[in-house]
Amino acid sequence: MPKKNTITTLLDMKKRGEKVSQVTSYDYSMARIADAAGINTILVGDSLGMTMQGYSDTLPVTMDEMVIYGRSVGRACKNTFVILDMPFMSYQASVEQAVRNAGRLMKETFANAVKLEGGKRVAPQIKAIVESGIPVCAHVGMTPQSANMFGGFKVQGKGEENARRVLEDALAVEEAGAFMCVLECVPPKLAALITKKTRMITIGIGGGAGCDGQVLVMQDMMGVGLEGDFVPKFVKRFAEVGKIMTDAYKAYDAEVKAGTYPDAAHSYVKSDCSDEFYARLDEEY
Ligand code: KIV
Repeated sequence: MPKKNTITTLLDMKKRGEKVSQVTSYDYSMARIADAAGINTILVGDSLGMTMQGYSDTLPVTMDEMVIYGRSVGRACKNTFVILDMPFMSYQASVEQAVRNAGRLMKETFANAVKLEGGKRVAPQIKAIVESGIPVCAHVGMTPQSANMFGGFKVQGKGEENARRVLEDALAVEEAGAFMCVLECVPPKLAALITKKTRMITIGIGGGAGCDGQVLVMQDMMGVGLEGDFVPKFVKRFAEVGKIMTDAYKAYDAEVKAGTYPDAAHSYVKSDCSDEFYARLDEEY
């Protein structure tokens, strides 16, 4: 019988050298399946701005939207630990703003932790949120909310100076109290070194195999998309759900148009009235 993942069981996994799995989910149906499959942690990422809302980046996502998506995921998770992203500009302005919004996400959803992007510069926010009793997952390296500063979604930590900066960011968020840290799009040796240097659980996405765990965006790993869509180098497709769905939609469309669906097997024939009744009804009206 699988047990509820908690901050303690997850940190124990790191101590035992066991890898931690994480996927993004944004709704009840998908989260239920991930939970039943034994995924350790779900991230309700602000990537939902792109995957669920069709924006080209995560910046437009609001607190209200995070609450709606987060609640649906939280309701689905019996064992999986749920982390909610704090959206752009919900924590950058001040420590007080960060604590209030982290508190709102915890009060209005079924989240177990919040995640915010940035290293040294958000360490005061992380410290205050943790002191309020809310577990924090940090996020360093390529932080999508700052993509405009990076000139796009680009690998971070390349070259000695940048590698040092990412390491110092990771150490700063650990010092502030984060229990977990996403390492996004950084060289594998740097991710492995950070993983060795910290008690935090490191979760890689484009950070190589040396992290304590891995996260993938559900649509990427499941192939929920269309042929020709851009696929980042680090993504491995574990299924071709988009293709399966396209084939199913085409088959449905064809059967509806041919009149072969619904047939008797998919109709409420048994509870139907007699032909005589319908003949009378026909005459009456
Ligand atoms: O928003 C998100 O889904 C994320 C992951 C890509 C780590 O931050």
